[in-house]
Amino acid sequence: MPGAIYAEGLVKTFGDVRALDGVDLDVPEGTVLGLLGPNGAGKTTAVRCLTTLLTPDSGRAVVAGIDVLKNPNEVRRSIGLSGQFAAVDEYLTGRENLQMVGQLYQLSKKDAKKRAVELLERFNLVDAADRPSKTYSGGMRRRLDLAAALVVSPPVMFMDEPTTGLDPHNRQQLWEVIQELVAGGTTLLLTTQYLEEADHLAHDICVVDHGRVIARGTADQLKAQTGGERVEVVVHEREHIETAREILAGFGKGEATVDDHTRKLTVPVTGGAKLLAEVIRDLDARGIEIDDIGLRRPTLDDVFISLTGHVAEQADAADEADAAEETKGAKK
Ligand SMILES: Nc1ncnc2c1ncn2[C@@H]1O[C@H](COP(=O)(O)OP(=O)(O)OP(=O)(O)O)[C@@H](O)[C@H]1O
Ligand SMILES: [Mg+2]
Repeated sequence: MPGAIYAEGLVKTFGDVRALDGVDLDVPEGTVLGLLGPNGAGKTTAVRCLTTLLTPDSGRAVVAGIDVLKNPNEVRRSIGLSGQFAAVDEYLTGRENLQMVGQLYQLSKKDAKKRAVELLERFNLVDAADRPSKTYSGGMRRRLDLAAALVVSPPVMFMDEPTTGLDPHNRQQLWEVIQELVAGGTTLLLTTQYLEEADHLAHDICVVDHGRVIARGTADQLKAQTGGERVEVVVHEREHIETAREILAGFGKGEATVDDHTRKLTVPVTGGAKLLAEVIRDLDARGIEIDDIGLRRPTLDDVFISLTGHVAEQADAADEADAAEETKGAKK
């Protein structure tokens, strides 16, 4: 039986761009799917197709047991959506926004008021509750938008980059809200650029790039595929990066990735602590001063880099090609 969110061969083109190029998804009820991918990968397009905001060129989608293309209105009644860009009414206060959503979803006036109060507390918006939301900071708007998506508790939720722009405290709180929702049986598809977030919240992860799913599995499965441990070295002098890279290449199972900004080199290895001691000895013999060195298991960031060839959290799609070039260049 298909899961609470199911898609088969979704294709969506915009002119020459194949934003979705045959995406299959299956999210079991009561679980969280993390959709990861670089800017422009097709994450928002997938969310918009699944939430009836866009019609795919081809493919099939079933959400909460309802065919998305045949019965979009019914789907809308069964889902909650928090989009990538906040969709609150600027001229209404936070409280009014939440009450309005409640009444749109046919709560009584009294229940809508009560629900608004609960959510304002939940999302730390009590002090700002009666100000027009156009006076809110970016993070406050984001929280109001998320609260609006939770006014009624639909069985299936979609959140497109829910914690982008939130400070660590508010991000942590949203994670708790999400975990409670899911414990209560909600199925959630969430997109994120924060791999730690996917690691923390998602039962399953799909990595998308150029409109295709290029890997899927649990965070642990993806990390295991990426393989082995990593030696991570931060050199003290920028001029030493190149020599350190050569030394690490001699120990590594793959190429070293270099972050010039933080002077950090990372290389996949096998050999554990003994190997680490040898690396330190060799670096020392070449007179390279080390700020930090350690051995660690692969993170989802490593998975992402090895799959997509570049790091997450880039500013925009235009930077993406440059960054990919840089990573390639760094590997030479
Ligand atoms: N309405 C549109 N018209 C034209 N092109 C579009 C439209 N919407 C999306 N695209 C293109 O489709 C591709 C996928 O975009 P999408 O917004 O789904 O990416 P994303 O994975 O959500 O990226 P981000 O991480 O930046 O939010 C991009 O190349 C984008 O430029
Ligand atoms: Mg997006």
